[in-house]
Amino acid sequence: MFLVTGATGGIGRRVVRLLRQREQSVRSFVRLTSRYSELEHRGAEIFIGDLRLEKDIQKASQGIRYIISAHGSDGDALSLDYRANIELIDQAKVNGVEHFVFISVLGADRGYEDAPTFKAKRAVEQYLEGSGLNYTILRPAGLASNLLPLAERFRETELYLLIGDRKNRTSIVSTDDLARIVVDSVAVEGARNQILPVGGPEIFLREDIPKIFGRIFNKEPVVINSPLFVIDGLRSALGLFNPQGQTALGTYRTLLANEFFCTKEEIANLEAIFNFQLETLESFLRRYLAV
Ligand SMILES: NC(=O)c1ccc[n+]([C@@H]2O[C@H](COP(=O)([O-])OP(=O)(O)OC[C@H]3O[C@@H](n4cnc5c(N)ncnc54)[C@H](OP(=O)(O)O)[C@@H]3O)[C@@H](O)[C@H]2O)c1
Repeated sequence: MFLVTGATGGIGRRVVRLLRQREQSVRSFVRLTSRYSELEHRGAEIFIGDLRLEKDIQKASQGIRYIISAHGSDGDALSLDYRANIELIDQAKVNGVEHFVFISVLGADRGYEDAPTFKAKRAVEQYLEGSGLNYTILRPAGLASNLLPLAERFRETELYLLIGDRKNRTSIVSTDDLARIVVDSVAVEGARNQILPVGGPEIFLREDIPKIFGRIFNKEPVVINSPLFVIDGLRSALGLFNPQGQTALGTYRTLLANEFFCTKEEIANLEAIFNFQLETLESFLRRYLAV
C-alpha cells in the first residue's frame, strides 16, 4: 500500500491516477475540504486528516509500504513543509516503510535565506538522507500544469503577466512525466538513495512562454512585464497585517528572482535512469488545451 500526501494536488492527483492504473493499492491523505471524489472513484482509499496533526500522520502511516510526500504548504512552511515531513519520515521508520519519495524543489540547496519553503525542503532532505530509509528526493523545476490557467487566460485576453527578469532561464517539466518519475522511483534501481533535479527537455527564457502560448492559440502575445519591486512593495504592505503571508511571499519572490533550470546532462541522466523521453512543454500544453 502506498500513502500519498497532497493527493489532490497537481502532482499528487496524477500520482494516484497512475498508481491506480497500475492496480496498486493507494491511501490518499486528504482534508475534509479537499476535492477528492475522483480519487475515490479510481479506487483509492481515502484518509481524511490534517498534516498539521501528528496523530493523523501516525494513523495514516499504519500498514504502509511506500510513502510519497507530495503535499504543499499553504504558506505554512514550518508546519507542512518541515514538521509534517519529519513526522512522515519518523512514521516510515516505525512502520518499516520500504521506500520514501520526497518532492523537494530545484534550488533547495542554494541557501536562499528569505525562502522558508526552500529551507524546510533542504532540512527535510538532510533528515531523510540520514534516516536509514531507502529514499528518492526529486527536485522539480516549475510544473507545466501551473501554466494551464495562465494559458486559458491568454486564450481569452492575449495578455501575459511576467514579473521580474524576462531573460531568466527555466526548464518546466510535464507534470505527467514527473508523476511517472515519482511512481517509478520506488522500483528503479538508479533512483534509490538519489537526489535528482527534474526539469523538462528544453531550457527556456521566461519570455519564451508567452511566445509558446501565441503559437498554440495563433495569437500575438501582449506581455506586461512588471518589475520585482512590485512584489517587494506588496510584501511590505502585507507585513503590516499578515506576517505569515509576508513570509510566504519570500518564497514566491525567490522563485521569481532566480533561475530554475536543469542542465542537458541532468536531463540526459534522468531519461537514462527512468528510460523514457521527457515531453516538451508545448506538447503538454497542446494535450491539455486540446489544440
Ligand atoms: N508547483 C510547482 O511548480 C512546484 C515546483 C517544485 C516543487 N513543488 C513541490 O511539489 C509539491 C506538490 O506541489 P503541487 O503544485 O502539486 O501542490 P498543490 O497543487 O499546491 O497541492 C497541494 C496539496 O497539499 C495538500 N495540503 C495542503 N495543506 C494540507 C494539510 N494541512 N493537510 C493535508 N493536505 C494538505 C492540498 O490539499 P487540498 O486539496 O485540501 O488543498 C493539496 O493536495 C509541493 O511540496 C511543492 O513544494 C512544486
